[in-house]
Amino acid sequence: MKKVFKILGILLGVIVLLALTGAAVVHFGGIPTYEVNAPDLKVTADSAMVAEGKRLSSMLCSKCHMAQNGKLEGQLMPDLPAEFGKAWSLNITRHPEYGAGRYTDGELAYLLRTGIKRNGEYAPPWMPKFPHISDYDLHSIIAYLRSDAPELEPSDKVQPASQPSFLTKLLCRVAFKPLPYPTEEIVAPPPGDKVAFGKYLATGKVDCYGCHSPSFETMNIMEPEKTPGYFSGGNAMPNLEGEIIYTRNLTPDKETGIGNWTEEQFVKAVRFGQLPNGGAVRYPMEPFAAMTEEEASAIWAYLQTIPAIRNDVDALSSGQENAHASK
Ligand code: HEC
Ligand code: HEC
Repeated sequence: MKKVFKILGILLGVIVLLALTGAAVVHFGGIPTYEVNAPDLKVTADSAMVAEGKRLSSMLCSKCHMAQNGKLEGQLMPDLPAEFGKAWSLNITRHPEYGAGRYTDGELAYLLRTGIKRNGEYAPPWMPKFPHISDYDLHSIIAYLRSDAPELEPSDKVQPASQPSFLTKLLCRVAFKPLPYPTEEIVAPPPGDKVAFGKYLATGKVDCYGCHSPSFETMNIMEPEKTPGYFSGGNAMPNLEGEIIYTRNLTPDKETGIGNWTEEQFVKAVRFGQLPNGGAVRYPMEPFAAMTEEEASAIWAYLQTIPAIRNDVDALSSGQENAHASK
């Protein structure tokens, strides 16, 4: 009997030691790093691409990277849930030492697609990735970052290093991995192919589905449409006061989704934040002021084609609030 206990004791000791070693690796190893296989890319752009890049940046990047002074020099991410730690979006002005000016075009493309920064460090989920955006749109963003727009005027601001929590570091080792760099050119469907174009906007270019599906943890980044509860809302997001706001169900379900909305109401909500009942959409949904009517209308057309899912988001906000707030 004693021998059995001794063996058990040793086994337990080994398990505890392994767990501690694992925890130490996660804790002290920090965010994992990867090899940087940036493509050999030199973006050639005309003024139309630069303008498109500016428009895209206003919808996709400024929300996080624009400081109070109107420059894209980064800031503290104010609404990051505390359990993930603290993060600062970084300086992406043209500064050749402290901004995105030190990235090559290829390194920028590589980061934006895979999530690997030029120093090899993986950018945690607080920096989005764009695996499905077309080459043209991606190159437009890069061309814009090189442009002489005033918000990109070189700034020598150095933001503090992010302070990922143990949870974030652990997730970056086991759950969130760099995405593959595409092997072929990605071409967007033409606007005339309305449903396909709308799908591209909603899942590749502006990414509505991430916020508007139930959880970032179950989002299928490589195959968006396979995300559980695709577009049925209920993703719990803190606003700037730390209150939980649930994203809305955008499927065509008549009772809990937007099945009874008109296209005009939808376009108004997306572009101007105005709701059919006269109210306004609340943060973190910011109206897409730079989106064209044609684009919002294409997203509407696409959303008409996805499966209706019954998911009563209002019930989440009233009854179960605490259970969700602690998630
Ligand atoms: C949801 C907020 C958010 C959005 C939207 C966002 N970023 Fe970021 N970005 C971050 C954060 C936070 C980091 C810091 C990542 C880290 O801690 O490693 C970052 C890092 C970066 C870096 C790395 C800078 C460096 O010094 O290594 C670049 C470049 C960048 N972002 C460009 C962009 C571009 C271009 C867009 C739009 C297409 C964009 N980001 C959209 C939050 C965001
Ligand atoms: C950062 C996360 C986020 C992104 C990205 C996002 N939304 Fe939202 N959206 C929300 C939240 C949160 C709400 C709920 C706001 C509220 O309750 O006031 C919302 C509300 C809405 C509403 C109002 C629906 C209703 O029933 O009241 C529409 C329409 C909408 N979003 C469409 C879109 C479209 C289209 C896109 C992409 C172009 C998009 N959203 C991108 C978070 C997001």
